[in-house]
Amino acid sequence: MNLPPRARKAVLTLHILSAAAWIGIDVLVAVLVGVGLSGSSATTRGLALRALAEFVVTPMLVSALACLATGLVLGLATKWGLVRYWWVAVKLVMNLVLCTLIVVALRPGMPEVGTAGAALENGQAPGTDLSFLVFPPAVSLTTLAFATLLAVYKPWGRVRRRSRKRPGGLSEARPTVVA
Ligand code: HEM
Repeated sequence: MNLPPRARKAVLTLHILSAAAWIGIDVLVAVLVGVGLSGSSATTRGLALRALAEFVVTPMLVSALACLATGLVLGLATKWGLVRYWWVAVKLVMNLVLCTLIVVALRPGMPEVGTAGAALENGQAPGTDLSFLVFPPAVSLTTLAFATLLAVYKPWGRVRRRSRKRPGGLSEARPTVVA
């Protein structure tokens, strides 16, 4: 299956927009975490943490899934394939890992972050160590920057499936890099 050029460009536009939205939301998360951990007053810190807990995870997941869905269409319906070129296959793995982390690691922690924010706004101690919040934006922004580099430079060539004879006569397909 090959997309006609106009349809391919439309899907590619959506793919780039969803990736850009995802990166933008990650930058917002980095700002909210920075203010939440070291803002000038307890009220400001609490407000940033509550905004982080309330508004960020769903748009982030939506943009990540949109990036994944448009990427899957581009991979399946163009010459690139999903596991035909290393740069696409690696981006696919990174996108899946990040989506999984959003669902299993980031989202479940948000109620606690919101509670800590509300406590700070009420002049109380947050009651929990929030330093772990540095990791989600750091990991995600690094990974997305790397995915953007892969998309632009398209390194490492094709994944080729090479047949290797086993002693019993059965052959085994192994991926290898070709320039
Ligand atoms: C992880 C986040 C991702 C980011 C930041 C990202 C970013 C980009 C960017 C900026 C381009 C445009 C490159 C250009 O036109 O030169 C692109 C193209 C592309 N992406 Fe992604 N992408 C991501 C995930 C994925 C996934 C998961 C797949 C496949 C499953 C995928 C498949 C593709 C393909 C096949 C193209 C080339 C489309 C074409 O030129 O026809 N991407 N990506």
